[in-house]
Amino acid sequence: MRVKDNGHLTIGGCDTVDLAAQFGTPLFVYDVEWLRGRIREILAATRKSKVRVKVSYASKAFCTTAICQLVHDEGLSLDVVSGGELYTALQAGIPPAEIHMHGNNKSWAELEFAVSSGIGLVIVDNFVELGMLSDVAERMDRHVDVLLRIAPGVEAHTHEFISTGQQDSKFGFDLESGQAKHALEQLSQYPRLKCVGLHSHIGSQIFEPQGFTAAIERMVGLYKTGLQLRLPFQILNLGGGFGIRYTDEDKPLSFDVYMDAIESTLTSACKELGINIPQIWLEPGRVIVGPPGTTLYTVGTKKSIPGVRNYVSVDGGMTDNPRLALYGAKYDAVLANRMDEVWDNPLIDEGGSRPGERWSVAGKCCETGDMLIWDAALPHPNPGDILAVFSTGAYNYSMASHYNRNPKPAVVFVENGEAKVVVERETWADLVRQDRPLR
Ligand code: LLP
Repeated sequence: MRVKDNGHLTIGGCDTVDLAAQFGTPLFVYDVEWLRGRIREILAATRKSKVRVKVSYASKAFCTTAICQLVHDEGLSLDVVSGGELYTALQAGIPPAEIHMHGNNKSWAELEFAVSSGIGLVIVDNFVELGMLSDVAERMDRHVDVLLRIAPGVEAHTHEFISTGQQDSKFGFDLESGQAKHALEQLSQYPRLKCVGLHSHIGSQIFEPQGFTAAIERMVGLYKTGLQLRLPFQILNLGGGFGIRYTDEDKPLSFDVYMDAIESTLTSACKELGINIPQIWLEPGRVIVGPPGTTLYTVGTKKSIPGVRNYVSVDGGMTDNPRLALYGAKYDAVLANRMDEVWDNPLIDEGGSRPGERWSVAGKCCETGDMLIWDAALPHPNPGDILAVFSTGAYNYSMASHYNRNPKPAVVFVENGEAKVVVERETWADLVRQDRPLR
């Protein structure tokens, strides 16, 4: 991202004011070079490690045909969590063998779709699914590679709604009560399922390696049990969850730090138990697509309550970014057409005068909680200004809704001064397409 002489923010060499004019707002803009760079950084860190590491992209963070193709071009495999994500990945041309499927309640139809497509691996979440998947494999005369998802009883220090590894969670076989071990013992009843290892995911937006190392310490014991039961174990999947910077409060770690911690903990834990070091699989989502994504909005109305607060409303909101409403998430924003006026924006080192004003950015939905940012440091906004909210590449488009019958925004990929639409903006006609009138 850069600022042009005219004070406009540019992303991937494109003037954001022009992007807003050409494609309309709200608009998701992804900086492709940045995105590829993040994947390459992660892969470089994993290649330095003595442990064998495979990385797949958790497509739930942002799943469209184009992003599936891009991450696959960069050498990642793909995690999907529903029939819809699987369909998208297959349409994108991802080889089925490089797709893995998650989910705590996969339907018969989803399991049949996964098995008939020949996807690489299914991460089985619970006892019911073991039986269902085995049935499907039997009926289709297939063998299926699986990992068992384990709840390792590790508390990740993040928002409780995105913390998943603790014992009291809907995900996975519980380790502490012996349920996980019991599942391994039952596997011999399912000859169509080949269990190649274990999986855990402790949560999302994590800023310390301790959660991962604690998970390793707990999982290797169970891994050894699997080997003793003569299961063909090779893989320990540690999930995703690597935190990113939304505001200055967030201090992300480099991937090297995670890899060092994972390597040393894994090596010593395996040595202690006298087992070979498994392959490590990681499933990052947010850390890949979050920072390179920016949302552009057009400023509409505003309201100042003397002595209380200034509100400015934009043409999107919780329909394209529900993260403040859901998790109290915080974001940085700028007026993209007036960058020269903002002293403390993250892209300008000096110059300009810092506005003393604070503006709370509201969405356009009929709901008080529809806010994007509380008390942002912005120059006095005017209708027609373009507001850019940073780090909105993960869990924004993928969690977008039609609330209040708002169409979903367009998505553009920008690179070397060129913009390519990768998802068209929905129209009002799209909103009624599935409706069936009474008369
Ligand atoms: N693997 C599994 C099994 C997961 O459940 C998740 C995320 C990931 C990988 C990727 O995690 P990441 O690297 O992106 O943190 N909607 C929430 C985040 C929910 C995460 C769900 N699982 C948010 O907006 O913060």
